[in-house]
Amino acid sequence: MVNFLIFGPPGSGKGTQAEFISEKYNLVHLSTGDMLREETALGSEIGIRLETIMKDGELVPDEVVIEMIAHRIDNNPEASGFLFDGFPRTLNQAVALDKMLEERRTVVGTMLALDVEHNELVKRLLGRAKTSKRSDDMKESVIENRIRVYRQKTTPVADYYRESGRFDTVMGMGDIDHIFGKLCKVIDKYL
Ligand code: AP5
Ligand code: MG
Repeated sequence: MVNFLIFGPPGSGKGTQAEFISEKYNLVHLSTGDMLREETALGSEIGIRLETIMKDGELVPDEVVIEMIAHRIDNNPEASGFLFDGFPRTLNQAVALDKMLEERRTVVGTMLALDVEHNELVKRLLGRAKTSKRSDDMKESVIENRIRVYRQKTTPVADYYRESGRFDTVMGMGDIDHIFGKLCKVIDKYL
């Protein structure tokens, strides 16, 4: 079993590319953003609390997402590998993931980091706001905050994987199929 992380700022194309990658390589796609939106859509007490954090573009507590991921890993014993999208987003989460995978005698092959210019991120997310129901896409100030939170709290996670030799970066601008092709070339090196 080999697992991969798709990483990058808000709007860099993690979800878009994760769909293609998980299908081609038969990986279980685990997006913490999608899981959290499912929870908020239920309107549960915890869902309402999470929504107040997400609508401002802040991170939800580590223990919430770590528990969600642990649960999904346990519920997929037959998986031939996982593709983590939007997780880990803090050093605590990265350490917790390594521990979870070690207990299951598996590892992260590499982090696939998408590199996209700031203006392009804002343009994509404002574009998506016209059709998405995501509360965090609606205001430019919230989009800017999501990017700021990424730079402050999440980029150290890239250093964590870079330092342990599990890091590859791919230019995430331009044609979606072309980016997918570049990601496949990287993944193939680890299989
Ligand atoms: P999450 O759902 O992970 O959102 P995000 O990181 O802000 O990223 P997006 O999903 O908006 O972008 P993406 O990179 O997936 O790009 P996409 O493919 O959609 O997190 C949301 C919130 O949940 C967080 O703010 C936080 O509150 C909470 N959360 C989640 N995980 C957490 C964690 N681990 N810890 C704590 N809190 C957590 O593409 C974006 C748009 O661009 C789309 O319209 C797409 O069609 C378009 N597009 C994609 N590729 C291209 C291309 N090559 N050219 C042109 N357009 C493109
Ligand atoms: Mg996404």
